[in-house]
Amino acid sequence: MKKRIFSGAQPTGQLHIGNYLGALKNWVALQDEYEAFYCIVNLHAITLPQDPAGLRKATLDLARIYLAAGVDPSRSTIFIQSDVPEHAELTWVLSCIARMGELERMTQFKDKGKGNAERAGVGLFTYPVLMAADILLYQTDLVPVGQDQKQHLELCRDIAERFNRDYGETFKLPDPYIPPVGASIKSLQDPEKKMSKSDENPNGSILLLDDADTVTKKIKRAVTDSGTTIDFDETRPAISNLLSIYQILTEKTRHECVEHFQGKGYGHFKTELAETVVEFLRPFQERVREFDDETIKSILQPGGERAREIAADTLGDVYVALGIE
Ligand code: TYM
Repeated sequence: MKKRIFSGAQPTGQLHIGNYLGALKNWVALQDEYEAFYCIVNLHAITLPQDPAGLRKATLDLARIYLAAGVDPSRSTIFIQSDVPEHAELTWVLSCIARMGELERMTQFKDKGKGNAERAGVGLFTYPVLMAADILLYQTDLVPVGQDQKQHLELCRDIAERFNRDYGETFKLPDPYIPPVGASIKSLQDPEKKMSKSDENPNGSILLLDDADTVTKKIKRAVTDSGTTIDFDETRPAISNLLSIYQILTEKTRHECVEHFQGKGYGHFKTELAETVVEFLRPFQERVREFDDETIKSILQPGGERAREIAADTLGDVYVALGIE
């Protein structure tokens, strides 16, 4: 029996190259070795206000991105979270297991709630519980994510351990898979901040659907540190970030990257980085255009059915363990 993977992304805003390098690239790489479930987490999306028509469209568009990135529906299950109502049901159960104090410590809540808990939606607060339900329903072994989700995964394990201790062995404890390079791609405008879908400055992120001109302009405008060499250096996060993007896309080692740019200036480096990103995005964007809505729906519908079989099994065990079957 293959071990199992679960991961997902929110259909909010446009995906950027950080989402690809930190998560999707690894989803694709791991789908041979593992039985994979890749979810479009639309229930997470509504923790912040969304335009209904926009959310409906973004949900199908995100499936297109998964497919164009190389997630293969004949090997991996791609589905929409709300097609499997067990996610919401298990969330209720786990919200009776999770502690207020644990959720209050989640940094993403503090960021997204903008420090104003009084005005934040309750769903934004319990967001990590829904995420734990996603993962635990599939008896997941491994969760490939970027660095920003690490704290949520630790909470998921804590909730699972507590449930198992109090009600008997029910959930498998999942491990995170956080890649050694690319787990936290930074904003091109501020290397102290992660590249983010909700960044107000459009120059901070390279979107997966940006055209060649836009990509080139954004990279040309990217901030660099004082210094002249092209090198990985913790004290120079801006150039290190750009170099990491180059490293992953070219599949070179750190050493090869540094050697390649030895004696070259920032201008030369940026031109080559822009070409590399554009060359990566071109075939990706062609694939995005290949999938029409009907094709997408014909993949998502059986995906949801397959996911539901497994989710229903786990939820059945949970209800028996609790005495509410
Ligand atoms: P989301 O939609 O914010 O992001 C999707 C994935 O992209 C990663 N990521 C990054 N990686 C590197 N550098 C960045 N700058 C960067 N920004 C984002 C994220 O870590 C994530 O892996 N809560 C999740 C979705 C989710 C989920 C789950 C994930 C819901 N349930 C269960 C795994 C398992 C989120 O909002 O991802």
